[in-house]
Amino acid sequence: MNIKKVHIKTWGCQMNVYDSQRMADVLAPLGYAETAEIADADVVILNTCHIREKATEKVFSEIGRMRVHKRAKEKSGGKMAFAVAGCVAQAEGEEILRRDKDVNMVIGSQAYHQLPEMIANWESANGKSRVINTDFPVEPKFDFMPAAQAARGISAYVAVQEGCDKFCSFCVVPYTRGAEYSRPAADIIAEVKNQIAHGAREVNLLGQNVNAWHGAGTDGKTWDLGTLMFHLAELDGLDRIRYVTSHPNDMHDMLYRAHAEIPQLMPYLHLPIQNGSDKILAAMNRKHTQDSYRRIIDRMRDVRPDMAFSSDFIVGFPGETDADHRATMDIVEYVGYAAAYSFKYSRRPGTPAAKAGKQVAENIKDARLQELQKKLYADQTAFNAAKLGLTFPVLFESRGRMDGQLQGKSAWLQTVNVIAPERLLGQIMDVKITTATQNSLTGEIVTIAPQSQPSIHAA
Ligand code: 5AD
Ligand code: SF4
Repeated sequence: MNIKKVHIKTWGCQMNVYDSQRMADVLAPLGYAETAEIADADVVILNTCHIREKATEKVFSEIGRMRVHKRAKEKSGGKMAFAVAGCVAQAEGEEILRRDKDVNMVIGSQAYHQLPEMIANWESANGKSRVINTDFPVEPKFDFMPAAQAARGISAYVAVQEGCDKFCSFCVVPYTRGAEYSRPAADIIAEVKNQIAHGAREVNLLGQNVNAWHGAGTDGKTWDLGTLMFHLAELDGLDRIRYVTSHPNDMHDMLYRAHAEIPQLMPYLHLPIQNGSDKILAAMNRKHTQDSYRRIIDRMRDVRPDMAFSSDFIVGFPGETDADHRATMDIVEYVGYAAAYSFKYSRRPGTPAAKAGKQVAENIKDARLQELQKKLYADQTAFNAAKLGLTFPVLFESRGRMDGQLQGKSAWLQTVNVIAPERLLGQIMDVKITTATQNSLTGEIVTIAPQSQPSIHAA
């Protein structure tokens, strides 16, 4: 049988990583297997990110680089489809078909369930067709995608929520991903169970505003995310629960309770503040202040003293002064982040902030980013160094870079490299930390837990 091949390249957030997996799932019944080699592919999907200008430009240069493979395939009588998916597809639409004649399909992030039909049409048009589908269907795409079937590893992603109603003034997400939608709890639980059956020990609940999730519960009531976690914690075989990304305005009592009471819920919260200045936060339409954010951090530390925090930051938002930037440095000092992502403000056409007059000069943005990152990296290094000599559980998720090494994660999402036999993949072991750098820890297994040894009672 002629197995067809699809190559998927993914940019951007974890939601895109998840979507790429789901696209592979929907194409499997059409006879497509994934390949890492572009040259072997019949269909190339570029799952794109539109969040900052650079991310968008990368897509077009990648298409340029991939063109030689398409030409080579055509020369030998074959065909190769280029499909642009994701947020650039949603935002730029027709413009992509105009800008690059080799693109065959443009498919927005809400239309992936229609991908098999689009590809079947392209096949029957003998590779000549060019189509676009950037609809926002009334029915959420989740209802039309088969539940994730394939194994997604020891740490599996499950989307629970998509879209955003917040309209931060710098951000394209509400336009590319649409309104907030929460999947029903029954679907989420079924997908998590399926992943456990395929070997997952950890689940990452995904959403653009994951803590805004408020879905139909299995008892007919509407649940919040904290309530959902209590139910997930009852599933056999699920050892770790994580969630990302949270918004300060959607913190709720049950979420604090979940952190206080659910041992499987990891003590880690990614809670972007974006900026420390109340004036800039207001201009960003964030609807919270530095102080209200501090109170969230305090309350979390009250219920879970070992809680680690991470955040996203934007420097150089229009109108940002040195004093505003100092306020950002202040909140960083206050929280002491375990990790963080920081960006220079990038003007996105169509967003309210793009029209603001007082854009900050590039060299000032550079200097502020440098100062911020220096502090963030120092804090991250200190956070890791504070674990030296401690012993704690690590979930082994993959082979390490060096032979004989496994790579795992601490409860606080630190990468931990350990010399360990491969049979410990998927196991949680106590590891004593021996070295710490900015990006990872190294350690030694303290004892081999009984459950990982062959049972002496086996029949
Ligand atoms: N410019 C710079 N950074 C941005 N982000 C979102 N939009 C922009 C923009 N226009 C950042 C925010 C967000 C993260 C995913 O990307 O910090 O939390
Ligand atoms: Fe963008 Fe703000 Fe929505 Fe986050 S909350 S996705 S930054 S609009």
